[in-house]
Amino acid sequence: MGHDLVIRGGRVVTGGAVVEADIGITEGRIAALGHGFDGAEVVRAEGLLATPGGVDPHCHIEQMSGMGLMNADTFETATRSAAMGGTTSVISFAAQAKGQRLSDAVADYATRAARGAAVDHAFHISVSDPSVPAFEDDLRALIAAGHRSIKVFTTYNIKLEDADILGILRIAGEAGALTCIHAENDAIIGAARARLLAEGRTRPIDHAASRPREAEIEAVARMCRLAEVTRAPVMIFHVSTAEAVAEIAAARARGAPIWAETCPHYLFQTEDVLDRPGTEGAKWMCSPPQRTKADQAALWAGLAAGHLQIVSSDHAPYRFDETGKFSNGRDAPFPAIANGMPGLEPRLPLMFDAMVSGGRLGPAGFARLTAEAPAALYGLPGKGRIAPGYDADLVLWDMGRAVTYGADDLHDNVGYNPWEGTTVTGWPVATYLRGQAVMREGDYLGQPGAGRWLMRAGIGTRPADIMGTSR
Ligand code: URP
Ligand code: ZN
Ligand code: ZN
Repeated sequence: MGHDLVIRGGRVVTGGAVVEADIGITEGRIAALGHGFDGAEVVRAEGLLATPGGVDPHCHIEQMSGMGLMNADTFETATRSAAMGGTTSVISFAAQAKGQRLSDAVADYATRAARGAAVDHAFHISVSDPSVPAFEDDLRALIAAGHRSIKVFTTYNIKLEDADILGILRIAGEAGALTCIHAENDAIIGAARARLLAEGRTRPIDHAASRPREAEIEAVARMCRLAEVTRAPVMIFHVSTAEAVAEIAAARARGAPIWAETCPHYLFQTEDVLDRPGTEGAKWMCSPPQRTKADQAALWAGLAAGHLQIVSSDHAPYRFDETGKFSNGRDAPFPAIANGMPGLEPRLPLMFDAMVSGGRLGPAGFARLTAEAPAALYGLPGKGRIAPGYDADLVLWDMGRAVTYGADDLHDNVGYNPWEGTTVTGWPVATYLRGQAVMREGDYLGQPGAGRWLMRAGIGTRPADIMGTSR
């Protein structure tokens, strides 16, 4: 019997290896890998490499920032950009405003995503105010309904105290949810910021000194201990320093249920991007800031050793104008400039270039860090692998094609490209979401509203429950 779609003759990253195989797709799922398949539609993929559709578990989409600024991207524009870069599932944030019930926050984001998202999606419940009515009941009910991850901050004006984080961890651990933490010590940052401003140091480069590495190291170590005490699984977001990697490795060696991600801007950029002339450095301002070459080496070593499991984008889009980075004026001091940079679309090409073309950890490692591990750790059903029974979410790569990023060639709504001038080798030429092409040869074929919300089953409290391995 024929399939609905056959991807014929390509090389396929599956089961930790690369094999030559046809991919038979029926009713949006991978039905079989093999040879000689017939299909109603056949796509010739000789010379191409098929990898799982990207799973980006850290994207800020159509979200109000802690500074009260709306992201540049709607669900429609962010997921268009995702599809153009090979990403087929995103986890963004249902961000609770102060005083808002959690259930209202999630309903609001879910309604907007259902209308606009062109790829599959889920939400982290982002908590800013645990003092609202029915907080614990709402949290438990939302987790039971399939929202299996929570986000908390130890800094910004939405930071929670340790006691509140402990309370959330206990509920999350019991109910089967993963708690994601932006871990930087707020007092260290506050003191550094005050000193810099007193010295008249207000430029984007001063943002880096305002968030010293010790702020991350301290908060990561403390959050590891909270995970240990509660036995609740924790995901440390956007790790940037060598010492934080070491803290995570040590906590995992003690058996703590700790997981961690880093992002391309920490792997490929250093602090000097913030020191471009004038206010240009604002384009790269994010928190934590980019660090050093030595930190990059430690992050790669941490990924290779399995201390870190995921590379996400931390897509946090603000335009380089008065609606975004300069909402407080062109001459705003660094604390008044929005933090974050776009990254949904270039995440896979940048990682492919380094890992597949450049040989760091290879195609199987690339698939694991960008799709398989995020899908497994966050409990996304049917996602992250090219294997029978999984959703037919695929990217086809032209491995020989080298592309140099231009200023405005991403498909988000940000209007600048932080990777302008960077050349990547290996380029996505087609993206499939549940067997439907959402990008082919640079043409966008997705549909707003066609993305599905991913209801997630319980997330276990032991690392082995999550990945089936302690790697
Ligand atoms: O600078 C960043 N990463 N902005 C987005 C919010 C966050 O901290 O994740
Ligand atoms: Zn963060
Ligand atoms: Zn973030």
